[in-house]
Amino acid sequence: MAKLTLDQMASFTKSRGFVYPSSEIYGGFAAVYDYGHYGILLKKNIESMWFKSMVQDRDDVYALDSGIFMHPLTWKASGHLDSFNDVLIEDKVTHKRFRADHLIEEYFEKKGEKVDMDKKSPEEMTKIIIENKILSPDGNELTAPRNFSLMIKTNLGVTDGSFSDENAVYPRAETCQGIYLDYKAVMDSLRPKLPFGIAQIGKAFRNEIVARQFIFRTREFEQMEMQYFLHPSEMDSKYEEWKQYRHKWFIEMGIPEDKIRFKEHTKLAHYASKAFDLEYNFDILGGFKEVEGIHARGDWDLSQHQKFSGVDLTYFDQERNEKYLPNIMETSVGLNRLFLMFLDNAYTEEEVNGEKRIVLKLDKRLAPVKISILPLSKKEPLSTIAHEIKNTLRKTFFVEYDETQSIGKRYRRADEIGTPYCITVDFETVNDKKVTVRDRDSMKQDRVEIDKLEEYFKGKF
Ligand code: GAP
Repeated sequence: MAKLTLDQMASFTKSRGFVYPSSEIYGGFAAVYDYGHYGILLKKNIESMWFKSMVQDRDDVYALDSGIFMHPLTWKASGHLDSFNDVLIEDKVTHKRFRADHLIEEYFEKKGEKVDMDKKSPEEMTKIIIENKILSPDGNELTAPRNFSLMIKTNLGVTDGSFSDENAVYPRAETCQGIYLDYKAVMDSLRPKLPFGIAQIGKAFRNEIVARQFIFRTREFEQMEMQYFLHPSEMDSKYEEWKQYRHKWFIEMGIPEDKIRFKEHTKLAHYASKAFDLEYNFDILGGFKEVEGIHARGDWDLSQHQKFSGVDLTYFDQERNEKYLPNIMETSVGLNRLFLMFLDNAYTEEEVNGEKRIVLKLDKRLAPVKISILPLSKKEPLSTIAHEIKNTLRKTFFVEYDETQSIGKRYRRADEIGTPYCITVDFETVNDKKVTVRDRDSMKQDRVEIDKLEEYFKGKF
């Protein structure tokens, strides 16, 4: 099975209508990507499988869609304005910018050594750079490492076009802050009992220093986050439960057990008291990388928002006869990273009858198109029969109709976007009222009565 480089994956997804570089006619726009027809379908399917597992299948999680802009004090209270930084370093000659931790890690990796750069300060990094005489990838001296805020700052509602700090607002850097601000509204309207969770899917924005890893790290991305509110004594058991629940989801979605693992953080973000990442072993990135974070946040968030807003966010627990500020544990996963993970895992090259076949072996539930309908001829009566089949099946499944070029090329196109089934309408269909159904993975073919197709596919998905 061939392995793609990240660039090859970017070009594959562009040519098959999954992901396009943003603003390409203007020469591109760094670290922003657009999603095409098949990309949107795949993204929606990932989203809906997450939502099903996190909300639909549970009695204790509610949905929310909060605004991208929030009161600017949100980010003061959350600690992001003071400490949501990466450490920036620059090549003194070319002025190329790097994340200092990544540059140092790469330096040691090349020497076959491992170094833990988790939450190191600019001062600690300066020391490592000087001691090891680390240069830029172009062999030049580096500037001193310094903190660089990941928050994007803008103005809303200012009329004269000038920027003012007084009116600064911040597109959210993580979706969960909207959940904390609406925690009281959810309590007052839905009256849930603790423990319970609030889940949301939405865009987040970060001024990433470098984002040269296709859709793995971008400046605009989607998060799927669930914040679980609980009594402090329940943290350890619920944390463990959610860790296992999320791990199981990856396995159920077709990720092999040996390609997913937990990594515990040794140094923690300002809000966290315990943090594990779920890491996936990316072929295209050459190793295990974070796709999801599971964090115990204690009462940090609610206590900060209570302090800054002056609104009481405590909960009266009738069963315990106790008033307290709920603790929070979260699961936070990047939708775009999952997208890349599923493509990485699904991309397969095989040899069939001496020819190369590219096939995306996606879980059927994630496949953008479920069934492709391929009449052997564009002419009647095959065309009408094939259109009738399409119109019946599209009531239940996302189908596609493809009548151009040879049947071999059409099978190849369907394989390359991961379509699990192709229906061929041939000349025999006119007599026997049956069609050939081809399975993407085994390439086995079944002859199925047209009247039984809907039932046949219902059993397959
Ligand atoms: N609320 C917690 C939080 O935001 P995080 O570890 O900063 O935690 C969670 O982010 C997840 O969001 C990551 O595991 C990753 O999947 C995704 N993510 C973070 N930054 C990203 C970026 N620049 N581009 C794409 N995905 C990103």
